[in-house]
Amino acid sequence: MLNLGVLASGRGSNFQAIIDEIEAGRLDAEIKILIVDNPNAYAIERAKRHSIEYLYINPKEFPSKDDFFIKIADELKSRDVELVILAGFMRIVRKFLIDAFPNRIMNIHPALLPSFPGLHGQKQAVDYGIRISGCTVHFVDEGMDTGPVIIQAAVPVSPDDTEDSLSARILKLEHKIFPEAIRLYAEGRLSVEGRVVKIKGYELKDEFIVNPSLR
Ligand code: GAR
Repeated sequence: MLNLGVLASGRGSNFQAIIDEIEAGRLDAEIKILIVDNPNAYAIERAKRHSIEYLYINPKEFPSKDDFFIKIADELKSRDVELVILAGFMRIVRKFLIDAFPNRIMNIHPALLPSFPGLHGQKQAVDYGIRISGCTVHFVDEGMDTGPVIIQAAVPVSPDDTEDSLSARILKLEHKIFPEAIRLYAEGRLSVEGRVVKIKGYELKDEFIVNPSLR
């Protein structure tokens, strides 16, 4: 059984998708703790509802960002967390946490990286006027959304899309690929060679490319 630690800042719908996969018996993992940097994060309600331990850590209480991430690493390590999940965690993770969990931190980003890294990936895509966007699960390195890509999924973008309409379309696929990436890890099928993630027995999946007529 894979021990997970989840970091979130807000709504927590990706956190919920992971909980649902575990509860449905499709992901052999246990969420040992949810850590939030925002006391009003709705993710906390989800943790309560599913009897998952949660912890609010206030970044302002630490003398530096490094100290904040050292505290997070300590809390995760003390619960034997093996894989750290950034589920809408709106901070750049500092080196100390990355070194504590090398290639063992996964992030979800709402764009097809390396396009549109950083905040508001969906708005960046709409403003740029591209016709295909999507989402990416990747291992976290020290850059901003630059780590090795694990899974991506694609959706079409209409000229009439808004940030909200595109975000909603992408989110449906986020909820599929994040649990899938964690499952591949749990099954011991991921390895990182340079910046490329190798996946044992990987099958290309049509469901990760949304056809406009299926929306
Ligand atoms: C998701 O769309 C996720 O991809 C994005 O925040 C949202 C969180 O939603 N993450 C980033 O933009 C990270 N740079 P959720 O709280 O409902 O999972």
